Amino acid sequence: MSFADANPAVPLFEATGLSKTFGVVEVLKDINLTVRAGEVHAIIGENGAGKSTLMKIIAGNLAPTRGEMRIDGETVTFSGPVDAEHRGIVLVHQEILLAPDLTVAQNIYLGRELHKGVFIDDRRMNEGAAKAVRGLGGDIDPDTIVSRLSIAQRQLVQIARVLLVPHRIVIFDEPTASLTPHETDALLKVIRQIRAKGVGVLYISHRLPEVKEIADRVTVLRDGKLVASHETSEIQPADMARLMVGRDVAKLYPDRHAAQARETVLEVEHLSVPGYAQDASFQLKKGEILGFAGLVGAGRTELMEGMVGLRPSRGAVRHLGKPVNFRDVHASLKAGIVYLSEDRKGKGLLLTKDLIVNLTLASLGKFAGALQIDRKRESAALDKAIRDFDIRTGRKDILAGQLSGGNQQKLLLAKMMLLDPSIVIIDEPTRGIDIGNKEQIYKFIANLAEEGRSIIVVSSEMPELIGICDRILVMRSGRIVGEVTGDHMNENEIVVLATGVTKGEAA
Ligand SMILES: Nc1ncnc2c1ncn2[C@@H]1O[C@H](COP(=O)(O)OP(=O)(O)O)[C@@H](O)[C@H]1O
Ligand SMILES: [Mg+2]
Repeated sequence: MSFADANPAVPLFEATGLSKTFGVVEVLKDINLTVRAGEVHAIIGENGAGKSTLMKIIAGNLAPTRGEMRIDGETVTFSGPVDAEHRGIVLVHQEILLAPDLTVAQNIYLGRELHKGVFIDDRRMNEGAAKAVRGLGGDIDPDTIVSRLSIAQRQLVQIARVLLVPHRIVIFDEPTASLTPHETDALLKVIRQIRAKGVGVLYISHRLPEVKEIADRVTVLRDGKLVASHETSEIQPADMARLMVGRDVAKLYPDRHAAQARETVLEVEHLSVPGYAQDASFQLKKGEILGFAGLVGAGRTELMEGMVGLRPSRGAVRHLGKPVNFRDVHASLKAGIVYLSEDRKGKGLLLTKDLIVNLTLASLGKFAGALQIDRKRESAALDKAIRDFDIRTGRKDILAGQLSGGNQQKLLLAKMMLLDPSIVIIDEPTRGIDIGNKEQIYKFIANLAEEGRSIIVVSSEMPELIGICDRILVMRSGRIVGEVTGDHMNENEIVVLATGVTKGEAA
């Protein structure tokens, strides 16, 4: 059937005793792993477990500190990712690594442009790019500049780019974290197609039902160690979660005391964000957790950005009864309203700066000594943040970009809490975050409400909204189209509002 079946005793890829040390911290310990031709092998584990590091070693981006890798039984060492590509191993990185000022087609063909004589053949590249993106279920004009694309679209471009390289092993590092259900389905279909050709796939995802659906085998990493490896048919998502976290994760969502009738802290009337959201009116009460549901692109993020002064908006906002008009985000911060962006990497954190800088940037006033910043207090604040938010990092002097996704989110929460806000708006609080960290973040959000703060949660994950919110507003095409509370807070009613069709009609 496939080329590697010539000798089924020898796996397509095999790693033995792989270890990796950064400084003094060993983040991978003695990993043994095989990839067979024509299988999807899922790698799961909490944020920081070492999944991305392992994938980067297999794809030649990092050299292992110890251990051996073999392809078709033959020992290999890679001088870099291009070397690994020549052996047929390609990696779709977890981070978006595209050139923002180039077009979709230019990015897809960057470094391997198509030529017509001595000239770059833009037409053929555009056609190829459009076809590659369509094959992934996307519909993006190949002439679009990448900086104009949504995160999901960028992810599709990145996948298209990698799949154009001839490959025997494709590694996907959390490819679906920012994709819609429709885009995810399209990607899973593509993965089944490449598997059918005898390609070996390594697949990382926190969505355990998705892992159950697509993978033939699943390997679990915890704290840099391989703790289990199973045929997927033998194991349920709940078992996977337990192996990942090392304990039972029976209850993901915290218990909450029903919010009583309390004072209104925020009143929004007829707020419009031109081009994105129209005529939004709602109220937020003290101690309340208010959800915003809707499909990607429904205008939820832009509505929030308009409200806090990150985008121009029209309409009335009253904060504690007083009319406010936040011209920029500093004004809303000063009023005690913080907004945590869905785009942690682009807007929330400075990935090339260290943890202290990121933690204290928004609240530098707090750390001003007589003449200069008080380093001791900053360092104590970082220690406290690491403790309070359970930020898992081997060292304190690393860059924010070296933290895993869940720990980046916790650093961002810690940074915002230094401002002691009364209203916290969190956009996609757990995107790309594993189940153990999710549980902690939900508990943290519930605690904020218990303390009398008011929370708005924007999320595309309906179970999450239903699990933590008191009330959910649903947006569709830029408008608030309904509110669900109590028994009506179920996926069915939310889907009907979000799509405007009844479940039976929905495609
Ligand atoms: N370049 C680096 N320098 C120091 N530590 C790193 C570096 N890259 C990753 N780490 C650390 O290695 C551990 C594993 O990270 P990673 O492989 O990204 O985990 P995962 O992908 O499972 O979330 C984390 O503790 C992370 O902070
Ligand atoms: Mg990772």
